[in-house]
Amino acid sequence: MAKPSAAWAQKRWLFPLLVALSLSLSTALAFLLRAAFDSSCDRHTFVVPDNRFDSGRTAGGAGNGLADRNPLGFMKSKRVLLVSHELSLSGGPLLLMELAFLLRGVGAEVCWITNQKPSGTDEVVDNLEHKMLGRGVQVLSAKGQEAVGTALKADLVVLNTAVAGKWLDAVLKENVHQVLPKVLWWIHEMRGHYFKMDYVKHLPLVTGAMIDSHVTAEYWKNRTQERLKIKMPDTYVVHLGNSKELMDVAEDSVAKRVLREHVRESLGVRNDDIIFGLINSVSRGKGQDLFLRAFYESLQLIQEKKLVVPSLHAVIVGSDMTAQTKFESELRDFVALKKIQNRVHFVNKTLTVAPYLAAIDVLVQNSQARGECFGRITIEAMAFQLPVLGTSAGGTTEIVVNGSTGLLHPVGKEGISPLAKNIVKLATHVERRLTMGKRGYERVKVMFLERHMAHRIAAVLKDVLQKAKNHRHW
Ligand SMILES: *[C@@H]1O[C@H](CO)[C@@H](O)[C@H](O)[C@H]1NC(C)=O
Ligand SMILES: *[C@@H]1O[C@H](CO)[C@@H](O)[C@H](O)[C@H]1NC(C)=O
Ligand SMILES: *[C@@H]1O[C@H](CO)[C@@H](O)[C@H](O)[C@H]1NC(C)=O
Repeated sequence: MAKPSAAWAQKRWLFPLLVALSLSLSTALAFLLRAAFDSSCDRHTFVVPDNRFDSGRTAGGAGNGLADRNPLGFMKSKRVLLVSHELSLSGGPLLLMELAFLLRGVGAEVCWITNQKPSGTDEVVDNLEHKMLGRGVQVLSAKGQEAVGTALKADLVVLNTAVAGKWLDAVLKENVHQVLPKVLWWIHEMRGHYFKMDYVKHLPLVTGAMIDSHVTAEYWKNRTQERLKIKMPDTYVVHLGNSKELMDVAEDSVAKRVLREHVRESLGVRNDDIIFGLINSVSRGKGQDLFLRAFYESLQLIQEKKLVVPSLHAVIVGSDMTAQTKFESELRDFVALKKIQNRVHFVNKTLTVAPYLAAIDVLVQNSQARGECFGRITIEAMAFQLPVLGTSAGGTTEIVVNGSTGLLHPVGKEGISPLAKNIVKLATHVERRLTMGKRGYERVKVMFLERHMAHRIAAVLKDVLQKAKNHRHW
């Protein structure tokens, strides 16, 4: 680096990343560590950035030319109420905040309601609310006349997650039927306990449901029909996209190298070693146990066949010894029993995943049962040119092209040996591994960027606004 100071000045974001990284490695910074993985299905990765969608364009004012070209330009001056079940750093709320900023970027009037707040002061809530106020999003109290009035006046109400359904009756009361025809319900979850009448009884009457993957949409259709005997409204599938911030890091080779070296050094992994990383909250549903068994099997295969490969490592990002103690201990016991402590590394949960994506060579997405609703980490890894070894379930099957951008294996115990073989395949075929990573990146560039997501959401909002309007004119 000839001119390090200039190079570094351009990478304003790199420094906070490194700071966040070293802090997360040494526990502090509760803000970053909090609840990063608690969301049922999806999770966002970054500290909420300041300029996620628009580069300094102020809402409503100048820059109409830009707003016109923005797919969401037609939302200018529209009144939108966003209702979040909670305000935290988990996937659902962060995604809704992204939408809030997108809409502000084109001059929509945006109000935000958080249905469930922790009692007392909460640093994360305060911080996020502050961020929203700074971007011109009005933050309202969940209950009371102002909330009802805003819902009645809004052109569009977006309910975020199934759980947010509780807000409808509790707050709107007798006004609920006036509001339902302009509600778009954004759903990111796929677990059985969300199919409760308490949450979703108004689902058939809202104008539309927006769901993160086709499989999840199918599942909702099936479950609501079979279990609750209710019918889904018009349903739109909207795949998510990578934030600009993530793409900036992913496409910066210097930054990636710095982060890669930093993380590898902290884990004690050499530069030439191959890391298979699983980045997800540690829980049985995310399949860390089965991954470790497959990893061990792959080490045995390599030994039996006397294959010449660099050392293999497994990194599990998402540990929380305070919460999942039994499962966490099970993982560590397995590692101790098989004597692979020097090959397996546990990292506490963190929102700052970019350094780990820079450090690993292959992403393992081992979510079990119905898999991920979408699985944002998968497209984030692909942005870093990583091939994906994923379970053939859920959103993963809509993101990963089997044989091209990664390799899929079955869920459950049946998946262990196929995954082990795939690990060996990618460890021994360097060219194939790199090619898959590049193809994954190309796929991200044509499908999974923020602007793609904005286009997809714009099409849905247009449709929903039209339907709401037709309804008013009856
Ligand atoms: C990880 O978290 C545990 C408890 O939650 C803590 O004791 C430990 O120090 C953390 N490790 C690192 C490296 O931050
Ligand atoms: C729903 O899924 C079950 C199996 O999980 C299947 O037997 C049933 O036919 C499906 N129903 C619909 C309406 O697709
Ligand atoms: C993925 O492709 C491999 C061959 O490349 C094939 O053996 C495997 O069955 C495929 N898996 C799925 C789930 O399609």
